[in-house]
Amino acid sequence: DMSKDDIDTLPGNLDSFKKLICTCKKCPLGETRQNFVFGFGNPQADVGFVGEAPGEQEDLQGVPFVGRAGKLLDKILAAIELTRDDIYICNVLKCRPPNNRDPLPSEVEQCEPYLLNQLRIIKPKLIVALGRVAACTILKTKESLKNMRNQIFKYAEVDLIVTYHPA
Ligand code: URA
Repeated sequence: DMSKDDIDTLPGNLDSFKKLICTCKKCPLGETRQNFVFGFGNPQADVGFVGEAPGEQEDLQGVPFVGRAGKLLDKILAAIELTRDDIYICNVLKCRPPNNRDPLPSEVEQCEPYLLNQLRIIKPKLIVALGRVAACTILKTKESLKNMRNQIFKYAEVDLIVTYHPA
């Protein structure tokens, strides 16, 4: 298994990294997924959005935030004059949990090094965690979303803020 210290040995560009991990079978979600949902957007983005896990549409299309929640996210981005091509977006888990249940701690443990390497490659200036589950998973806390809003956290040495999930 990959430990957090092994991150330095992983590919330093997104395409090679995706190719390396897209057939992952480290956890049981690898058996039920239709598609591995790596991430989407600008590899040079200043802002990286991190959701929880792919849903049904994301699993079917292999792209994060393309379902209902994604359509609202696009509107929210448009309101601040951004598009998906200006930002980078991915999830903590790259594969869909059956029936969209919350990620299990074991799944997060296996998958989080992938997120950390993506962030190491992209080096965003800001990370936006979308929703309580994404935020609590990333920050290893059980705080309410209400308590986490309006604060600046650190994740992978990058400033991180928490906001509502578009769902
Ligand atoms: N919700 C998420 O957290 N991520 C997606 O990719 C889609 C919906």
